[in-house]
Amino acid sequence: MLISFEGIDGCGKSTQIELLKAYFKKNNISFSVFREPGGTEISEKIRNLLLHETDDMDPVTELLLFSAARSQLVTEEIKPRIKKGEIVVLDRFFDSTTAYQGYGRGSAELTQIEILNQLATHQTEPDVTFYLRIDPKEAAKRTKTAEKDRMEKAGERFFKKVREGYDKLSRLDRYEVLDATESPDEIHHKIIQRLSKELG
Ligand code: TYD
Repeated sequence: MLISFEGIDGCGKSTQIELLKAYFKKNNISFSVFREPGGTEISEKIRNLLLHETDDMDPVTELLLFSAARSQLVTEEIKPRIKKGEIVVLDRFFDSTTAYQGYGRGSAELTQIEILNQLATHQTEPDVTFYLRIDPKEAAKRTKTAEKDRMEKAGERFFKKVREGYDKLSRLDRYEVLDATESPDEIHHKIIQRLSKELG
């Protein structure tokens, strides 16, 4: 089973993934977690390029690098595990590209991004996507103190567009929309409820 987490920076994804990891461990359920971009040696090198190296990256270069990192992760780690029936948790997947590069940056037409996503994921789709929905202003408050990476420096107008993108995506059946302003425990409880449906 493939589970992805999505949302703008500061939505609380990492906290929820930590709580889910603890839940799986407590219940002796085996799982793996990967973050995007990253998760393989090549993908982590690409991550470094994307988040730290330069401030004047061409938007199409950025789009292709996120996709390149993803393709490597999918073929090296995700596909083989899904094939074996394992649970894989993803801290971001191709919806991030649609929301950030498509809606946020306008790096390419949405139809082009869709085709690129199919290519980079080798047609792999999550069974369920947890979307932690938050107002960009509220999210900015949460990330204010942390040191910002290249993407996070993009500002509030950018994140408003990214959120609009996620809101459109959230109409998909696989989406579970969660109010990110609720307490971490409440959100975690909803996640477990939804997963118990999936896990049977
Ligand atoms: P990260 O530090 O992992 O942030 P977060 O904890 O919010 O996931 O950095 C990932 C950044 O890259 C984040 O700002 C979202 C962005 N991103 C894209 O713009 N496109 C993508 O396809 C992916 C996977 C991430």
